[in-house]
Amino acid sequence: MVIKLKANAKINLSLYIKGKRDDGYHYIDTVMQSVNLFDTLKLKKADKITLKCSKRYLSGKDNLGFKAAELFFKETKISGGASIYIKKRIPEAAGLGGGSADAAGVLLGLNKLYNAGLSNEKMEEMAASLGADVPFFIKGGTQRSTGIGEILEELKPFKSGYFVLAKWGTKPSTGEMYRQLDSKENAFIDIDSSVKYAEENNLEELCKHLNNSFNEVWEDKSLQKLLESFNPLGVGLSGSGPTCFAVFEDLKSAKKCEKVLKRKKITAFTVKPIEKSMIFE
Ligand SMILES: Nc1ncnc2c1ncn2[C@@H]1O[C@H](COP(=O)(O)OP(=O)(O)OP(=O)(O)O)[C@@H](O)[C@H]1O
Ligand SMILES: [Mg+2]
Repeated sequence: MVIKLKANAKINLSLYIKGKRDDGYHYIDTVMQSVNLFDTLKLKKADKITLKCSKRYLSGKDNLGFKAAELFFKETKISGGASIYIKKRIPEAAGLGGGSADAAGVLLGLNKLYNAGLSNEKMEEMAASLGADVPFFIKGGTQRSTGIGEILEELKPFKSGYFVLAKWGTKPSTGEMYRQLDSKENAFIDIDSSVKYAEENNLEELCKHLNNSFNEVWEDKSLQKLLESFNPLGVGLSGSGPTCFAVFEDLKSAKKCEKVLKRKKITAFTVKPIEKSMIFE
């Protein structure tokens, strides 16, 4: 038997970094949204764990999907392994949670492959030990995440608009982005409004609240300015970047924006909000 699934990326509709814990973790408050940009995972039973990725440098033990598989066999005490293949489409280190999506996909996929009967709650708990944003991807959809990212509140599905994701260049590591943010005055960001407008599917009002603490670290606003020039309803930043997004009411305007970005050699995808992060074939 082969399990095939799509592990979809997320964007942060808004993100407030509230402060830092003594152990270095940060308190956050964010609205996360699954979007239909996905990696494809294939899982098969095997004697040991192996992981191959379409991007060769992401193959092997360092892949978060590999670590998720190790955790699965340890927790379930199933003796066995899996051969895992990941076809990457989600750009990595981009603020789109690609590695975390793959890790959650491996947990859900192996649970099905081995009929292990793990509950979503149990898998969310396991996911938290792999990374602060991994639990979100067990269910996905629209969720508010607080604490250090481990506290999740499911929101009414947000379904409106077309989002053009744009990635240009790279960022310093996420750790470095946090260090830079810690050295600045960090303005309060009102996440309650994002929650309210997301739940009401009020795209226009939501787009007035696409705020992200990491905007303070990004001094170069050229990509945002370029996105603004397409007259979207709003422009946002996902995670700690570098991916920005422009929001449109209609597909045609979004596609036009995507096309111009691609002509400028900017990585671009037109996506829609979706109600869950994992889609089994
Ligand atoms: N399956 C995977 N897909 C992508 N990256 C992975 C994976 N496994 C491990 N990594 C490592 O994780 C790093 C972060 O990648 P990921 O796609 O999770 O970034 P992100 O969550 O979008 O952004 P951030 O850099 O803020 O974590 C990559 O640079 C890569 O070295
Ligand atoms: Mg990540």
